[in-house]
Amino acid sequence: MLATPLDPLGTRPPADEPSRASPQVTAWWRTAVIYQVYPRSFADADGDGIGDLPGVTSRLDALRRLGVDALWLSPFYTSPQRDGGYDVADHCDVDPLFGTLADFDELLHQAHARGIRVIADIVPNHSSDRHPWFQEALTSTSGSAERARYLFRDGRGPDGSEPPNNWQSHFGGPAWTRVPAADGTPGQWYLHLFDTSQPDFDWSNAEVRAEFRRVLRFWLDRGIDGFRVDVASSLVKADGLPDVDPSLDEDLAPYTGQPGVHEIYRDWRSILDEYPGDRVLVAESWIKPLTRRADWVRPDEMHQAFNDLFDDWDAPTLRGIVENTLAAFSAVGAPSTWVASNHDTVRQATRLSLPRSDRPNGLGPRSTGVPAYDDTLPRARALAMLTLSLPGAAYLYQGEELGLPEVTDIPDAARQDPTFARTAGEQYGRDGCRVPLPWEADAPSYGFGPGDASWLPQPTIWARLARDRQQDVPGSTLTLYQDALVLRRSRSLAAGPLVWLAGHPPHVLAFRSGRTTVLVNMGSTPTPLPAGDVLLSSTDLDDRTLPSDTAVWMHS
Ligand code: BGC
Repeated sequence: MLATPLDPLGTRPPADEPSRASPQVTAWWRTAVIYQVYPRSFADADGDGIGDLPGVTSRLDALRRLGVDALWLSPFYTSPQRDGGYDVADHCDVDPLFGTLADFDELLHQAHARGIRVIADIVPNHSSDRHPWFQEALTSTSGSAERARYLFRDGRGPDGSEPPNNWQSHFGGPAWTRVPAADGTPGQWYLHLFDTSQPDFDWSNAEVRAEFRRVLRFWLDRGIDGFRVDVASSLVKADGLPDVDPSLDEDLAPYTGQPGVHEIYRDWRSILDEYPGDRVLVAESWIKPLTRRADWVRPDEMHQAFNDLFDDWDAPTLRGIVENTLAAFSAVGAPSTWVASNHDTVRQATRLSLPRSDRPNGLGPRSTGVPAYDDTLPRARALAMLTLSLPGAAYLYQGEELGLPEVTDIPDAARQDPTFARTAGEQYGRDGCRVPLPWEADAPSYGFGPGDASWLPQPTIWARLARDRQQDVPGSTLTLYQDALVLRRSRSLAAGPLVWLAGHPPHVLAFRSGRTTVLVNMGSTPTPLPAGDVLLSSTDLDDRTLPSDTAVWMHS
């Protein structure tokens, strides 16, 4: 047991910043439950098989009923959709696939009317190759102002036929693509840390900085409550774009965590602070160690940074992660965040039962060792209760409240994640966690849209897991989440403080958060429950024992 409870909400001012000690202890985002909507797959109002903003608006009551505090909307901007909208061609407009700016305004209005805040994704590391600036760059000469907004460089080798450096794209293959010069001969190369259709901006360029200030204000003026900042560690690249040293960890790569990046977020923070209503910046930064990631949430930078996904089903490992997280973030006055799944990872209802060592980037028909759904659900449910009981903010990914598994039978021809093509099918990529949601078991496309259309094929298990099959059904995963959110709020679970409890076997994670005792049995043997009232459990309890792969919340 810890002698002193950790300071989970980061309410102590950081030691070196006494003058900034305005902890905003009660700010909504410190303990919020934020629900990620991946708009393509949430709900489709117009029947084209692709989810849209009016679809989200039409289903807001379900989210209010679930009890979330805020939505995070993945990109809905103008985009050719080469990377699910993370390839933005116009940062200040809605893609016709998803609706119009008026649809966005209506969604925001309706969400606010229900007491739900809305955070949007902002994608500053790169644009789409369809962005007018990149199109201008392509038709401009080397060294022009148009090219200077991106990272164009001459190639190496006598005829410039080798990429400017050895950087690799996160989606496979080189991070550089060569473009023709005006006379049609091979010309310069441009950098893309992701797909070839996602050229990286040059953030040393003043025009780029000014443009993103404009983009932030555009959405803040419309009333958005904040931004999830995509690839927040990579905007600034090391001077001279030196080769990656393959012997070093990726966190030390010349495109990760360069000191200059923090100046950008201080600038953005000052813009958000001009607006009323506690608007937030959330970093997608996977940089390690956590003490370094905490730099993104120092008092004058962002409000939150995502935590690593819970990936291990092992009590001592998870305890270490929780302790390190709380310590790292509270040291800079920031709350921790807890995330089990997102649109980039195998869904938790499948992932947690795969051996840790060979978790692939996506699963498909040729994957081996994929666990049976009913065997994996208990862990996913227990993990949800753990995530929702820890001090700080929690993120839910759409569909996890239904216990959806990863969809593994998507045919190759239907796959859309660029990773699949760029690795020649070696990695399935992320389509399996992006399959359109089931709302009604007996409706066409399981209620995703008005007809049968669905941009990825939906599996037959969707009939069993559809929301209408689970709503108000005792024991359903949806009911578990709803009950958990009610208790989390009424018992101020997210406020902590967290105190570890002694006297439990090593495979049981045991702690008290405020007046609630949380026990999670991650081992294979049941263990006796201590005395006290059980408030909620992730599987049925037959007697006073805590079964394997089960979490309980008890009155302390
Ligand atoms: C997003 C991904 C996207 C990538 C490039 C990420 O981290 O979450 O979905 O492919 O950024 O924008």
